[in-house]
Amino acid sequence: MNRIVAGNWKMHLGPQAGYDLAVALANRIPDLQGIEVVVAPPFISLAAVRQGLQGSHIKLAAQNVFWEKQGAFTGEVSAAMLREAGCQYVIIGHSERRQLFGETDVGVNRKVCAALNNGLVPIVCVGETLAERDGGETAAVLERQVTRALLALTTDDIKRLVFAYEPVWAIGTGRAANVQMAVEVAVAIRDLVKGLFPDSDSIPVLYGGSVNPENAAQFASRPEISGALVGGASLQADAFTEIVRAFYKER
Ligand code: PGA
Repeated sequence: MNRIVAGNWKMHLGPQAGYDLAVALANRIPDLQGIEVVVAPPFISLAAVRQGLQGSHIKLAAQNVFWEKQGAFTGEVSAAMLREAGCQYVIIGHSERRQLFGETDVGVNRKVCAALNNGLVPIVCVGETLAERDGGETAAVLERQVTRALLALTTDDIKRLVFAYEPVWAIGTGRAANVQMAVEVAVAIRDLVKGLFPDSDSIPVLYGGSVNPENAAQFASRPEISGALVGGASLQADAFTEIVRAFYKER
Protein backbone atom coordinates (compact mmCIF):
# COMPACT_ATOMS: atom_id res chain seq x y z
CA MET A 1 0.00 0.00 0.00
CA ASN A 2 1.40 3.42 -0.92
CA ARG A 3 1.92 5.86 1.88
CA ILE A 4 0.44 9.32 1.44
CA VAL A 5 1.79 12.66 2.57
CA ALA A 6 -0.73 15.41 1.89
CA GLY A 7 -0.35 19.14 2.45
CA ASN A 8 -3.50 21.00 3.47
CA TRP A 9 -2.79 24.63 2.61
CA LYS A 10 -6.07 25.79 4.18
CA MET A 11 -6.86 29.45 3.35
CA HIS A 12 -3.29 30.30 2.40
CA LEU A 13 -1.60 31.08 -0.92
CA GLY A 14 -3.47 32.65 -3.81
CA PRO A 15 -2.72 31.66 -7.41
CA GLN A 16 0.70 33.34 -7.66
CA ALA A 17 2.06 32.22 -4.30
CA GLY A 18 0.50 28.79 -4.84
CA TYR A 19 2.19 28.46 -8.21
CA ASP A 20 5.54 29.42 -6.67
CA LEU A 21 5.24 26.80 -3.91
CA ALA A 22 4.13 24.17 -6.43
CA VAL A 23 7.22 24.83 -8.57
CA ALA A 24 9.47 24.70 -5.49
CA LEU A 25 7.96 21.35 -4.45
CA ALA A 26 8.14 19.97 -7.98
CA ASN A 27 11.86 20.81 -8.01
CA ARG A 28 12.56 19.29 -4.62
CA ILE A 29 10.42 16.14 -4.54
CA PRO A 30 11.29 13.44 -7.08
CA ASP A 31 9.08 10.46 -7.87
CA LEU A 32 9.46 8.39 -4.70
CA GLN A 33 8.52 4.74 -4.97
CA GLY A 34 5.78 3.86 -2.52
CA ILE A 35 4.92 7.44 -1.56
CA GLU A 36 2.08 9.51 -2.91
CA VAL A 37 2.58 13.25 -2.41
CA VAL A 38 -0.52 15.44 -2.52
CA VAL A 39 -1.17 19.16 -2.11
CA ALA A 40 -4.53 20.78 -1.37
CA PRO A 41 -4.56 24.48 -2.24
CA PRO A 42 -7.62 26.73 -2.00
CA PHE A 43 -10.07 26.33 -4.93
CA ILE A 44 -8.97 29.62 -6.48
CA SER A 45 -5.37 28.40 -6.75
CA LEU A 46 -6.01 24.91 -8.16
CA ALA A 47 -5.37 25.86 -11.80
CA ALA A 48 -2.15 27.73 -11.05
CA VAL A 49 -0.87 24.97 -8.77
CA ARG A 50 -1.70 22.36 -11.39
CA GLN A 51 0.49 24.29 -13.82
CA GLY A 52 3.29 24.60 -11.30
CA LEU A 53 3.23 20.85 -10.65
CA GLN A 54 3.45 19.90 -14.31
CA GLY A 55 6.07 17.26 -14.95
CA SER A 56 6.17 16.20 -11.28
CA HIS A 57 4.40 13.26 -9.61
CA ILE A 58 2.74 15.43 -7.00
CA LYS A 59 -1.04 15.10 -7.03
CA LEU A 60 -3.70 17.73 -6.59
CA ALA A 61 -6.46 17.74 -3.96
CA ALA A 62 -9.29 20.09 -3.04
CA GLN A 63 -10.12 20.99 0.55
CA ASN A 64 -13.87 20.56 0.20
CA VAL A 65 -16.59 19.61 -2.29
CA PHE A 66 -20.37 19.94 -2.54
CA TRP A 67 -22.45 16.84 -3.21
CA GLU A 68 -24.82 18.18 -5.89
CA LYS A 69 -23.80 17.96 -9.55
CA GLN A 70 -24.66 21.55 -10.48
CA GLY A 71 -27.32 24.17 -9.90
CA ALA A 72 -28.23 27.15 -7.77
CA PHE A 73 -25.75 26.53 -4.93
CA THR A 74 -23.95 29.84 -4.58
CA GLY A 75 -20.36 29.47 -3.48
CA GLU A 76 -20.14 25.71 -3.91
CA VAL A 77 -18.00 23.51 -6.19
CA SER A 78 -18.98 20.05 -7.46
CA ALA A 79 -16.90 16.88 -7.62
CA ALA A 80 -17.04 16.87 -11.43
CA MET A 81 -15.65 20.41 -11.47
CA LEU A 82 -12.78 19.33 -9.22
CA ARG A 83 -11.98 16.44 -11.54
CA GLU A 84 -11.97 18.80 -14.48
CA ALA A 85 -9.59 21.08 -12.56
CA GLY A 86 -7.17 18.17 -12.20
CA CYS A 87 -7.91 16.98 -8.66
CA GLN A 88 -7.48 13.33 -7.78
CA TYR A 89 -8.17 13.69 -4.06
CA VAL A 90 -10.50 15.75 -1.89
CA ILE A 91 -10.31 16.42 1.85
CA ILE A 92 -13.73 15.90 3.42
CA GLY A 93 -14.96 16.64 6.93
CA HIS A 94 -11.93 18.54 8.18
CA SER A 95 -12.53 19.59 11.80
CA GLU A 96 -12.36 23.25 10.81
CA ARG A 97 -15.29 22.65 8.47
CA ARG A 98 -17.16 20.71 11.13
CA GLN A 99 -16.52 23.33 13.82
CA LEU A 100 -16.65 26.61 11.90
CA PHE A 101 -18.95 25.84 8.96
CA GLY A 102 -21.54 23.50 10.42
CA GLU A 103 -20.45 20.38 8.54
CA THR A 104 -22.37 17.35 9.80
CA ASP A 105 -21.78 13.60 9.57
CA VAL A 106 -24.65 13.42 7.08
CA GLY A 107 -23.05 16.09 4.90
CA VAL A 108 -19.70 14.32 5.11
CA ASN A 109 -21.34 11.11 3.89
CA ARG A 110 -22.97 12.87 0.94
CA LYS A 111 -19.68 14.46 -0.01
CA VAL A 112 -17.87 11.12 0.23
CA CYS A 113 -20.45 9.56 -2.13
CA ALA A 114 -20.17 12.46 -4.60
CA ALA A 115 -16.38 12.26 -4.57
CA LEU A 116 -16.36 8.50 -5.19
CA ASN A 117 -18.97 8.77 -7.94
CA ASN A 118 -16.70 11.19 -9.73
CA GLY A 119 -13.46 9.28 -9.37
CA LEU A 120 -11.99 11.40 -6.57
CA VAL A 121 -10.32 9.75 -3.58
CA PRO A 122 -11.87 11.17 -0.39
CA ILE A 123 -9.51 11.89 2.49
CA VAL A 124 -12.04 11.73 5.31
CA CYS A 125 -11.00 13.55 8.47
CA VAL A 126 -12.13 12.31 11.86
CA GLY A 127 -11.01 13.15 15.37
CA GLU A 128 -12.09 14.04 18.86
CA THR A 129 -11.94 17.38 20.68
CA LEU A 130 -9.99 17.76 23.91
CA ALA A 131 -13.19 17.72 25.96
CA GLU A 132 -14.24 14.48 24.27
CA ARG A 133 -10.84 12.87 24.92
CA ASP A 134 -10.82 14.01 28.55
CA GLY A 135 -14.38 12.75 28.91
CA GLY A 136 -13.37 9.29 27.70
CA GLU A 137 -15.49 9.64 24.58
CA THR A 138 -12.79 9.25 21.93
CA ALA A 139 -13.81 5.77 20.82
CA ALA A 140 -17.50 6.65 20.63
CA VAL A 141 -16.87 9.86 18.67
CA LEU A 142 -14.65 8.06 16.18
CA GLU A 143 -17.10 5.24 15.78
CA ARG A 144 -19.89 7.70 15.05
CA GLN A 145 -17.84 9.74 12.58
CA VAL A 146 -16.44 6.72 10.74
CA THR A 147 -19.70 4.78 10.59
CA ARG A 148 -21.72 7.73 9.36
CA ALA A 149 -19.12 8.76 6.79
CA LEU A 150 -19.37 5.32 5.21
CA LEU A 151 -23.15 4.94 5.11
CA ALA A 152 -24.42 3.31 1.89
CA LEU A 153 -20.92 2.66 0.54
CA THR A 154 -19.83 -0.65 -0.99
CA THR A 155 -16.73 -2.74 -0.40
CA ASP A 156 -15.52 -1.52 -3.77
CA ASP A 157 -15.84 2.10 -2.63
CA ILE A 158 -13.72 1.38 0.43
CA LYS A 159 -10.78 0.53 -1.84
CA ARG A 160 -10.67 4.16 -2.92
CA LEU A 161 -10.97 5.87 0.42
CA VAL A 162 -8.47 7.27 2.91
CA PHE A 163 -9.04 8.28 6.53
CA ALA A 164 -7.08 10.93 8.38
CA TYR A 165 -7.08 10.83 12.16
CA GLU A 166 -6.79 14.41 13.29
CA PRO A 167 -7.36 15.01 17.00
CA VAL A 168 -8.86 18.49 17.08
CA TRP A 169 -6.64 19.54 20.00
CA ALA A 170 -3.52 18.77 17.95
CA ILE A 171 -4.40 20.85 14.89
CA GLY A 172 -2.44 24.07 14.54
CA THR A 173 -1.48 23.98 18.21
CA GLY A 174 2.08 22.71 17.94
CA ARG A 175 0.96 19.90 20.24
CA ALA A 176 1.01 16.69 18.20
CA ALA A 177 -0.58 13.53 19.56
CA ASN A 178 1.96 11.11 20.93
CA VAL A 179 2.78 8.37 18.51
CA GLN A 180 1.26 5.58 20.58
CA MET A 181 -2.04 7.45 20.72
CA ALA A 182 -2.03 7.97 16.95
CA VAL A 183 -1.21 4.30 16.38
CA GLU A 184 -4.01 3.13 18.67
CA VAL A 185 -6.59 5.27 16.91
CA ALA A 186 -5.34 4.33 13.44
CA VAL A 187 -5.73 0.66 14.35
CA ALA A 188 -9.17 1.30 15.85
CA ILE A 189 -10.36 3.08 12.69
CA ARG A 190 -9.05 0.27 10.51
CA ASP A 191 -10.79 -2.32 12.70
CA LEU A 192 -14.03 -0.36 12.60
CA VAL A 193 -13.99 -0.27 8.81
CA LYS A 194 -13.14 -3.96 8.65
CA GLY A 195 -16.10 -4.64 10.94
CA LEU A 196 -18.41 -2.71 8.66
CA PHE A 197 -16.95 -4.14 5.44
CA PRO A 198 -15.53 -7.58 6.28
CA ASP A 199 -14.39 -8.18 2.69
CA SER A 200 -12.49 -4.92 2.37
CA ASP A 201 -8.71 -4.62 2.40
CA SER A 202 -7.09 -2.70 5.18
CA ILE A 203 -7.58 1.01 4.52
CA PRO A 204 -4.99 3.78 4.80
CA VAL A 205 -5.19 5.93 7.92
CA LEU A 206 -3.07 9.09 7.97
CA TYR A 207 -2.18 11.08 11.06
CA GLY A 208 -2.67 14.86 11.12
CA GLY A 209 -2.13 17.53 13.74
CA SER A 210 1.10 19.53 14.17
CA VAL A 211 3.21 17.19 12.04
CA ASN A 212 6.56 18.88 11.37
CA PRO A 213 10.06 17.91 10.18
CA GLU A 214 11.12 17.23 13.79
CA ASN A 215 8.38 14.76 14.71
CA ALA A 216 7.60 13.24 11.29
CA ALA A 217 10.05 10.34 11.62
CA GLN A 218 8.33 9.10 14.80
CA PHE A 219 5.01 8.80 13.02
CA ALA A 220 6.65 7.48 9.87
CA SER A 221 8.40 4.70 11.80
CA ARG A 222 5.06 3.07 12.63
CA PRO A 223 3.59 0.90 9.86
CA GLU A 224 0.09 1.36 11.34
CA ILE A 225 0.24 5.02 10.26
CA SER A 226 -0.14 5.27 6.49
CA GLY A 227 1.09 8.83 6.09
CA ALA A 228 0.42 12.38 7.20
CA LEU A 229 -1.98 15.23 6.61
CA VAL A 230 0.12 18.32 7.17
CA GLY A 231 -1.20 21.84 7.68
CA GLY A 232 1.18 24.62 8.74
CA ALA A 233 4.40 22.84 7.78
CA SER A 234 3.10 22.16 4.26
CA LEU A 235 3.35 25.88 3.43
CA GLN A 236 7.14 25.76 3.41
CA ALA A 237 8.82 23.83 0.61
CA ASP A 238 11.76 22.64 2.71
CA ALA A 239 9.69 21.56 5.71
CA PHE A 240 7.15 19.68 3.60
CA THR A 241 9.92 18.01 1.60
CA GLU A 242 11.58 16.84 4.82
CA ILE A 243 8.32 15.33 6.04
CA VAL A 244 7.87 13.52 2.72
CA ARG A 245 11.43 12.19 3.00
CA ALA A 246 10.82 10.97 6.54
CA PHE A 247 7.88 8.85 5.35
CA TYR A 248 9.88 7.63 2.37
CA LYS A 249 12.86 6.58 4.52
CA GLU A 250 10.75 4.73 7.06
CA ARG A 251 8.34 3.11 4.61
P1 PGA B 1 -1.51 21.42 11.33
O1 PGA B 1 -2.88 21.13 10.56
O2 PGA B 1 -0.45 20.53 10.73
O3 PGA B 1 -1.23 22.89 11.08
O4 PGA B 1 -1.72 21.12 12.77
C1 PGA B 1 -3.23 19.82 10.18
C2 PGA B 1 -4.58 19.82 9.50
O5 PGA B 1 -5.45 20.59 9.92
O6 PGA B 1 -4.80 19.09 8.51
